[in-house]
Amino acid sequence: MQRLEGKRAIVTGAGSGIGRSIALRLASEGARVVLADVDEAAAENVATEIKGATLVQKTDVTSAAEMEALVERVVSEWGGLDVMVNNAGLGIAATAPDTSEEDYDRVMDVCVRGTFLGMKYAIPAIRESGGGSLVNMSSIAALVGLKDRAIYCAAKGAILSMTRAAAIDHVEEGVRVNCIAPGTVDTPWVARITAGYDDPEEARRIMQARQPHGRLVTPDEIAAMAAYLASDEAGSVIGACMVVDGGMTAR
Ligand SMILES: NC(=O)c1ccc[n+]([C@@H]2O[C@H](COP(=O)([O-])OP(=O)(O)OC[C@H]3O[C@@H](n4cnc5c(N)ncnc54)[C@H](O)[C@@H]3O)[C@@H](O)[C@H]2O)c1
Repeated sequence: MQRLEGKRAIVTGAGSGIGRSIALRLASEGARVVLADVDEAAAENVATEIKGATLVQKTDVTSAAEMEALVERVVSEWGGLDVMVNNAGLGIAATAPDTSEEDYDRVMDVCVRGTFLGMKYAIPAIRESGGGSLVNMSSIAALVGLKDRAIYCAAKGAILSMTRAAAIDHVEEGVRVNCIAPGTVDTPWVARITAGYDDPEEARRIMQARQPHGRLVTPDEIAAMAAYLASDEAGSVIGACMVVDGGMTAR
């Protein structure tokens, strides 16, 4: 019997990077996975990599109607929901004075509103399914100040705080809420961020050097943590922030 057999899971932002790895990992451990992404073609591509049952749903996590429809679809097609991974997010490299109001809104909307809507619609469905697990994607940006990431740090801090509060609200319903705080993970997003610097190679070297293990975290290392939190083995892990950062916040 596989660890996630029988579980019905949604992963947002499943078309790329960390979300892709989480979707593949949950499926490899026996879960049925809904791949939700604003980029439907990317989510479809990931679905072709999975042998087990999948659904693909084009979803913008900032839209209440689309998030509600996403949860309704898995409940109507698979009879319930056990695991919600609120992974979709984005960040920009800028100080507060250099951030436009449009970029502020974009980062806060996708990260904070998206996670809020994921919890708003998934928690009742998970509760009605007899309990389960929510995994929110925070960041070490919630724990330490990162250079050129003022608004991203604010957004990820909000996700950490919402996670803790929701964990207390729903613990008696059998709904566990936790988050992951990755360090810098080798994904297309990081490639886009470094491309914005004058010397992208140097920017990448700085990102590697600030993690004591001297490399970027892999998406699969974050997926392994998500699978653990999704599983019943994490039954006593509630309101936790699971740091996976190569030791970055230990120094
Ligand atoms: N890569 C890192 O170093 C790192 C570190 C800490 C936390 N994170 C977090 O991990 C998550 C995934 O990051 P990644 O590096 O894999 O990024 P990525 O850009 O590689 O993938 C993000 C995915 O989310 C999707 N997405 C973006 N906006 C969306 C929306 N409004 N609705 C639905 N889907 C949307 C994109 O289409 C894409 O497929 C984010 O929340 C990010 O903040 C990343």
